[in-house]
Amino acid sequence: MWDDLKAAAEAGRDRSILGLFEADADRAGSFSVTALDLLFDYSKTQIDAGTRDILIALAQAADVEARRDAMFAGSKINETEGRAVLHTALRNLDGDPVMVDGQDVMPEVLDTLARMETVANDVRASDFTDVVNIGIGGSDLGPAMAYLALSPYCDGPRCHFVSNVDAADIADTLRGCDPEKTLFIVASKTFTTIETMTNARTARAWLQDHGVSTDGRFIALSSNAVAASEWGIPSERVLGFEDWVGGRYSMWGPIGLSLMIAIGPDGFRAFLRGGQSMDRHFRVAALHENMPVFLALVGIWHNQGLGHATRAVLPYDNRLSRLPAYLQQLEMESNGKSVAMDGTALPVNSGPVVWGEPGTNGQHAFYQLIHQGTRVIPCEFMVAAEGHEADLRHHHELLIANCLAQSEALMRGRSLDEARAIMAKKGLSGDELERQARHRVFPGNRPSTTLMMPKLTPEVLGQIIALYEHRVFVEGVILGINSFDQWGVELGKELATSLGPLVSGDAPADSKDGSTQALLGYVKRYS
Ligand code: F6P
Repeated sequence: MWDDLKAAAEAGRDRSILGLFEADADRAGSFSVTALDLLFDYSKTQIDAGTRDILIALAQAADVEARRDAMFAGSKINETEGRAVLHTALRNLDGDPVMVDGQDVMPEVLDTLARMETVANDVRASDFTDVVNIGIGGSDLGPAMAYLALSPYCDGPRCHFVSNVDAADIADTLRGCDPEKTLFIVASKTFTTIETMTNARTARAWLQDHGVSTDGRFIALSSNAVAASEWGIPSERVLGFEDWVGGRYSMWGPIGLSLMIAIGPDGFRAFLRGGQSMDRHFRVAALHENMPVFLALVGIWHNQGLGHATRAVLPYDNRLSRLPAYLQQLEMESNGKSVAMDGTALPVNSGPVVWGEPGTNGQHAFYQLIHQGTRVIPCEFMVAAEGHEADLRHHHELLIANCLAQSEALMRGRSLDEARAIMAKKGLSGDELERQARHRVFPGNRPSTTLMMPKLTPEVLGQIIALYEHRVFVEGVILGINSFDQWGVELGKELATSLGPLVSGDAPADSKDGSTQALLGYVKRYS
């Protein structure tokens, strides 16, 4: 199946995107997908009707629909860990049965949601002014991203997110907090992650150092209630979830507690509703009308087809500044694998490097390379029709204009003749005109997609996050990998543990390689 994609890529690599628009007056309509409140426009890519057929055939050959149905049905599609994949159950607000090992998990899910709501309402009504979520990876990035994204809806206590084991993170956070009025949420699926447990112990010591009781000041979010209670958080203050919720897919349940405290249970339910409606779309829409499927197919086209190793996520929304980091974990931890489910080597590249920054800031930083660098970087723009600052509508109009200008500039480019004409107008001539003109050429014909939303509300954010989750799923199915394990993070963790005593000087470093020994020697000289 990859041969057809490779052949299509060779034929389509230099296809003129502007030419595609000239040949098809309705290209914008026929090469875009609408679902719920969202519009995904992929018309500014080299994908034509024939390419699209090949991409859809790839999805069919990989049995995307059957795998999708297996996921929603609670099959153990996370085969290397023997687990079901059911983060979607966390946003199944109607409570329709979802079976795992013959048991409906929904009563438990809805009961936990109700407990979260009680906790959130209590905290919102209490004297707590600050809530500190201590967690890392999936126990941090989702709520941290959404807290910022939905700041216009935040009317609860201030939330902070401490993730890094670097003492700077917790020290800088606690400096602004009153120990009497600060609540700590220890968010860790396993309740063993060294960064989180170290920060949690430091938080506990901070309270004790200030003579403040830890009672009632810690909540745990974890699948490991036993470890949480051994740590000192009683079971009634633990909100649990099952192993069929992967860390990077967990913000819909207890891991989202800080967000719920910030925006209130109604706002959080709206976020869940958005995710649930995207689930419905993903489950019922035909492949050629299915938005997550199309995000995935465009990704496959650019990465595995054309060989573009990275994709830039460029939200024209300052409040989505943590979205690229969130998507880095979602996409790269899920699809950064080189072995297929059956243990064989992947015949194509694994998932892409995902990176980005909100526009317009990125424009004044790295867009130079996107426009004139030697490599093609597919760009994924994102913008809302309406901002939250109604009285500053002119800002938002400029924001939209900038977003659309970038995708147009990438596609249109500027030819040498056009650049020459500009230089001639400036009064240049001869060799100097030629030299200056060459620096002002834009190759153009560079692909981008644009995701449009009406306004960044909790419900729309829910749609977007579920959209990306399903995109990652579809890309993973087409690659034939397991998107739900993360063995690649283990080795570094093990080595960090064994290096601890070497850094503190409690064990000799002579078993280490020369570089590591020399670096440890440097630390010793200065610490
Ligand atoms: O980095 C690996 C990882 O296991 C992520 O998948 C996870 O989100 C993160 O660590 C945190 O894990 P936990 O929630 O168990 O502390």
